[in-house]
Amino acid sequence: MSSDWKKAGALLIAVVIFLVDVFSSLDIAVAVLYVLVILISVDLFSKKMLLGITCLCIILTIIAFIISHGVECSDESCGRGGISIAAIGIASLLALKSSASREQLRAQLQLLARSQAFLAGAQQLSLTGSIGFRVPSTDMYWSEEAKRIFEFNKAVSPTLDLMLGVTHPDDQQRLRSMLEDVCASQSQVEVEFRLVMADGRIKYLQMWARQYEITGHECEFIGALMDITTTRKAEEALHRSQAELAHITRVTMLGELAASIAHEVNQPLAAVLTDSQAGLRWLGRVPPDFHEVTKAVERIGAQAQRAADVIRRVRDLSKKGKIFQEKLELDSLLAESLLLVERELYINKVTVSTETEASPVSIYGDKVQLQQVIINLVLNAMQSLCATRDHGRKIVVCIKRGDADHLELIVRDNGGGIPDQDVVNVFSPFFTTKSSGMGVGLSICKSIIEAHEGQIWAENESAGWVAVGFRLPSYELREGMRKNDAFMTN
Ligand SMILES: Nc1ncnc2c1ncn2[C@@H]1O[C@H](COP(=O)(O)OP(=O)(O)O)[C@@H](O)[C@H]1O
Ligand SMILES: [Mg+2]
Repeated sequence: MSSDWKKAGALLIAVVIFLVDVFSSLDIAVAVLYVLVILISVDLFSKKMLLGITCLCIILTIIAFIISHGVECSDESCGRGGISIAAIGIASLLALKSSASREQLRAQLQLLARSQAFLAGAQQLSLTGSIGFRVPSTDMYWSEEAKRIFEFNKAVSPTLDLMLGVTHPDDQQRLRSMLEDVCASQSQVEVEFRLVMADGRIKYLQMWARQYEITGHECEFIGALMDITTTRKAEEALHRSQAELAHITRVTMLGELAASIAHEVNQPLAAVLTDSQAGLRWLGRVPPDFHEVTKAVERIGAQAQRAADVIRRVRDLSKKGKIFQEKLELDSLLAESLLLVERELYINKVTVSTETEASPVSIYGDKVQLQQVIINLVLNAMQSLCATRDHGRKIVVCIKRGDADHLELIVRDNGGGIPDQDVVNVFSPFFTTKSSGMGVGLSICKSIIEAHEGQIWAENESAGWVAVGFRLPSYELREGMRKNDAFMTN
């Protein structure tokens, strides 16, 4: 029934009550029935109108009373009239109160719906869903966004098995243990895991969870899930292009060292030639001197090994392999790197001295990349020395402990240093002060060192000396951190 009809109905009831009240000779409080009109009107009219209707009902009661009883009336009829008016007033008051609380409830529901819509919108924008989970009953609550991230149908009530079903097989155990552990721990737990979607797509998710409530034997936790696929893919692409760039600059660097490397290989080959001729001569003697022949052949073997070592080092540096982190000794890494630039330094009359002030000097990293950094720093020092000094060109490389958990390798040269205004720029890509420089050497060194959780710096020291160095976590610290990570995520 439309509200207009209802309003007309209420009016009709009021008229009927009025007529019955005026014309019937019943000795009862007929006007009490106006309460009906008030109850019907409460949902149909505004508060003001309801007050008006209440007044109208009271006026109609009084008019009917005067018509049927005159001004003078008995106590009984006055009492009935009074009861009717009081009933109308009380009914109106209660109706107004209930209408007010209903309005309040409606407003609260609207507010709730609004904040739920905001939450859902924010979850959608930030690609973050929320889930609630009860242990051991395994009841789960999933927000719409959480279902969307997992690509579950809206109507589905996801379960732990469904969740694990789309989780990458390698990450299932980690996720399962994290969900089990969260109730045992007071602190927030974090885990990163992958999903394998039906079409083979991989999604990267990060989940934070925290205990919410423990009631009896049941624990409830809340978790926030974030789809970090785009970030992970961008990071992977960035790492790939950084590795590409590092490889290209390594090959370019080897190209610059080609003449020196060729010399390094040529020297043992020349010695091989000389020793083989000498060997032949000792063989041609009558009688052949086998003792001398043996010595010549041994020298040939050693020199061939030397040439093979140079080639291996060049091949290692030029290869385009995956980043492979392993335990390395910083002093051996330095020695091997210097072997590749030894000849270049010799030609340019640069003397290199090394000092190792720490023990042990084990670190954890990628050998090829860290060699690239050391060679870059040494070549920069050499180039600066060649540009500024005719003699007394010195490079000092020092390995020391930065603090209990870090090792430092610092390359110093007395080439006059870096102009003060350039010190902050030397690690920026394409910053160079050399006519033939590319300006990417130090920026690549920086990204390599930071990928190893270290820092790199350059600073001018006194008397024209400059220090460019890096600091890396010691092997022991990295091992500790890795074990801790494994503990946190398992
Ligand atoms: N040992 C050093 N002494 C003086 N200046 C240096 C030294 N090392 C680096 N620089 C400055 O930093 C700049 C950037 O170095 P780098 O990134 O290796 O690029 P490039 O060697 O191609 O110029 C150099 O051009 C030079 O101005
Ligand atoms: Mg350089």
